[in-house]
Amino acid sequence: MRATRTLPLAITVTLALTACGGSALSGGGGDGGSGDDSKVKIALLVPQSGVYAPLGKDMEAGFRLYLDQNDNKLGGKDVELTVVDEGAGPEDGVPAGTKLAQDESVDAVVGIVNSAVALGLTDSFTEAKKPLIITNAGANDITGKSSSPYVWRTSFANGEVGEAIGGHVAKEVGDGKVYLVGPDYAAGDEFLAGFKKSFVAAGGQIAGTQMTPFGKTTNFQPYLQKARNAKPKAVFAFYAGAEAVTFVKQYDQLGLREDIPFYATGFLTEGGALTAQGKSAEGIFTSLHYSSELDNPTNATFVKEYTAANEVPPTVYSMQTYDAGAVLDKALTKGTGGDQIVEGLKATGEVDSPRGPWSFSDKQGPDQTYYLRKVEKKGDAWTNVIEDELTKPSS
Ligand code: PHB
Repeated sequence: MRATRTLPLAITVTLALTACGGSALSGGGGDGGSGDDSKVKIALLVPQSGVYAPLGKDMEAGFRLYLDQNDNKLGGKDVELTVVDEGAGPEDGVPAGTKLAQDESVDAVVGIVNSAVALGLTDSFTEAKKPLIITNAGANDITGKSSSPYVWRTSFANGEVGEAIGGHVAKEVGDGKVYLVGPDYAAGDEFLAGFKKSFVAAGGQIAGTQMTPFGKTTNFQPYLQKARNAKPKAVFAFYAGAEAVTFVKQYDQLGLREDIPFYATGFLTEGGALTAQGKSAEGIFTSLHYSSELDNPTNATFVKEYTAANEVPPTVYSMQTYDAGAVLDKALTKGTGGDQIVEGLKATGEVDSPRGPWSFSDKQGPDQTYYLRKVEKKGDAWTNVIEDELTKPSS
């Protein structure tokens, strides 16, 4: 059933993929369930502008693959899919998401890259009793103190991704110090704090921390110079999308790659970012819960079919949003009302995912394995080779 096509994903589009050709669907997130239970309307809220636009494209392609593989049905219901731009940050993403929370024709919302956008939307979804499946944004509070019965996450919590690799880096650097760097917003802070937690607990010392203006920094050289001056034994960073490309290239151009081992969260070297970085990313070690290199049968099929449809291999962003398709497929068998979908989500059980099997924790985020990955060239392509499993984060 899979259609192999490339869509003009960079523009905001609203596509009706159902046989009903985009007619208004009754429904809504409220208690009562939808009027027409044979159809469901899903809105995908992903960035189509700003430094995270490439991530939004991967997410949309992941969700579309799930629909294509499943006859455009979730829970046996025909899907009408609307794609809405999350924009460059909360100033765009929060109003766009609030509108979707309040739109009675939308049964559930999927997506969101940016932690600040997710944090700004949980109350609206809770008030509207509408399910929100976050397929990237890792803000810790979403599955912590701001948790809501209506907000679920198929991705990760920021702190976990940093925490998973801290103990390993402490062992590698011995009595040397590590310099931390990342963008100055919720996610940057939380990735670095998660790293610091396990790194310091394992005896590691911090050489310094630098937060860079988010979404505006194109010249990282002053910050990299500060990092070099601190004489660290290694650097640990979080960057993603366009910022990841610029940071890694400038790290290499300044000659730091030869001198200072580079560790990061895996977003730094995912997909199109890694292709653009090329050799400048060689040897970077990262932590993540996915690589297209993972060796399991579900991932083999996923990588094959995604690559056939999109001409590039999937990323963590594609996988997390593909999994939202799988999760909703089960949940929507209970009905399309907000509370019915939530009941369905509670009964998800084990998800047979390209990342390996996982299930929702009682905090409504994935209980999953994190891996140590290393950038290597395989044939003509740069890739994230799996080196090891990392220690399970405690948070
Ligand atoms: C976030 O803002 O939570 C975020 C953004 C990009 C990533 C990961 C996390 O790659």
